[in-house]
Amino acid sequence: MDITVLLGAPGAGKGTVATRIAGPLGAIHVSTGAMLRDALKAGTDAGLDAKRYMDRGELVPDAVLARLMEELLEQSAPDAHVLLDGYPRNPAQAQTLESLARRFGCAVGRAVTIEVPEDVILERLDGRRVCPACGANFHLRTLPPKRGGVCDACGAELVQRTDDQPGTARKRLAVYARQTAPLIEWYDQRGLLLRVDGSGEADQVAEAVLKAVMASQG
Ligand code: AP5
Repeated sequence: MDITVLLGAPGAGKGTVATRIAGPLGAIHVSTGAMLRDALKAGTDAGLDAKRYMDRGELVPDAVLARLMEELLEQSAPDAHVLLDGYPRNPAQAQTLESLARRFGCAVGRAVTIEVPEDVILERLDGRRVCPACGANFHLRTLPPKRGGVCDACGAELVQRTDDQPGTARKRLAVYARQTAPLIEWYDQRGLLLRVDGSGEADQVAEAVLKAVMASQG
């Protein structure tokens, strides 16, 4: 099993990139944010509990995520390539991932950090609209739906994520700076870090990430 970690601030474009490169890489795209939102939609206790943290822009407790990761790696085929979007998000989670990977006979092959200036990020979060039915992502300016306010894929009415409201978005950026950004050095010290400029157009950024990942695979 191979593991690629996508790092980057909220709104940096991790999900947008992952959606575009999972196919060409033959990888499984795993978004922990989407998994938690699905758990909430399904009305599970774990989902309802996670909502309290997500609505405040805070990280959901490590133990909840550790269980999700353990199940994921347990169920993944030995030759799978797992593309992690949103995990790990702090040094404790990085350590958990390292030991889980060891237990399942694999390792993180690389961590890609998508670098975007803060003013661009705030604009991306402010303009993001999501489909509550199928999870597709749009942006009012850079990736508008074909018909105003309606999902191209399934026709449901698009909404703004509650954690994309300006106050919560800023809180998430602060949480990222304090808890997640230290992972950039963590992976750099292990010789696994790849840096990609995420300020260009979505297709360009995805292409750059894809190239970097493929080059690291040798
Ligand atoms: P999660 O859903 O993972 O949110 P996030 O990390 O904050 O990331 P985002 O989904 O906001 O942004 P993104 O980088 O994927 O950007 P996107 O591609 O959508 O997590 C939500 C919450 O769940 C967390 O706050 C936490 O509470 C909890 N959680 C999740 N994982 C956890 C963990 N491991 N531990 C603890 N808690 C956890 O792009 C954003 C917008 O910009 C879109 O509109 C898109 O169309 C547009 N866009 C993207 N790229 C470009 C581009 N190149 N040019 C122009 N527009 C672009």
